[in-house]
Amino acid sequence: MSWIREGELSLVEKLSANVLKAGPMPKHVAFIMDGNRRFARKKQVERQEGHSQGFDKLAETLRWCLQLAIPEVTVYAFSIENFKRAKEEVDGLMELAKQKFLRLLGEQENLEKHGVCIRVLGDLTMLPLDLQQLIARAVVATREHNKCFLNVCFAYTSRHEITNAVREMAWGVEQGLIRSSDVSEALLSECLYSSNSPNPDLLIRTSGEVRLSDFLLWQTSHSCLVFQSVLWPEYSFWNLCEAVIQYQCNYRSIQKARDLHRDEQVRHQLEADRACVAELLQRGGGRRQDALSDYSRRREERVRDFLDALRHKRDSFITDLSSQAALA
Ligand code: FPP
Ligand code: MG
Repeated sequence: MSWIREGELSLVEKLSANVLKAGPMPKHVAFIMDGNRRFARKKQVERQEGHSQGFDKLAETLRWCLQLAIPEVTVYAFSIENFKRAKEEVDGLMELAKQKFLRLLGEQENLEKHGVCIRVLGDLTMLPLDLQQLIARAVVATREHNKCFLNVCFAYTSRHEITNAVREMAWGVEQGLIRSSDVSEALLSECLYSSNSPNPDLLIRTSGEVRLSDFLLWQTSHSCLVFQSVLWPEYSFWNLCEAVIQYQCNYRSIQKARDLHRDEQVRHQLEADRACVAELLQRGGGRRQDALSDYSRRREERVRDFLDALRHKRDSFITDLSSQAALA
């Protein structure tokens, strides 16, 4: 099964898609694809078959998202907590991922046609080296594509991601790139694995569980959360439409909450800059005239240089892994 399953919508699905698209559409949808093992039990097939059909459903869902003009999708494919499962199941999931990333490398034409950029969010160092290398090759091969984005969370939890972002900022301070006073909510967001994406508009969890299980906790504070009882391998186009309708019904309140939050962030940054300038002036450094705008400009420059260095560090890690694989 390829990553983007080819196929057309039926006439009634097309009509429904057009009606939905007349309203505000989510630009980024995140999925907690839950219920693979219950599906396997229900169908009396092997657990691994449940995960394999879970992947097939992901491919089908990506096609529906393209057809609904949803350009970005993030999926929870393997949580750090999942390492605690039976060795046989963890090995099976690693094997499935290897197979699928290898397959992806053979489908570059199709991915290029759709302009799909694949990103993998998580702590890759926790994975077997051959899988790390395959992932890196897939990321490098698609990183220039920019029509739609698939973020695969693998060896991921939100707390691990946030802790990592805090470590990156501490590294920036140690390197003298930023000051501790430059640390802010906005900067932490830029240090997350998800820094290249807007926050999800809609988060969907299947299988009837109503918790986030450490998925995108930072990014979904103003997202529409939809919990559906269907098991992931049985997810349908109509389930997706139902979730989008819930998003549309809540669109105004979501936008309002986001606008308020954005204004608050700007206000906080201004207050923080004012406090730093007041302290500098008290210590006798600098002139009062233009002090605030000078300070803000210099802080923005520091932060920009730090984020460039961070991006370079992350890009080099992926590029090196990918070229190791080419040499192997
Ligand atoms: C949750 O169902 C699903 C997973 C832990 C794995 C999800 C992985 C896939 C759908 C394959 C994706 C692969 C790639 C390469 C992107 P569960 O196992 O928790 O099932 P249960 O809730 O019924 O126990
Ligand atoms: Mg589960």
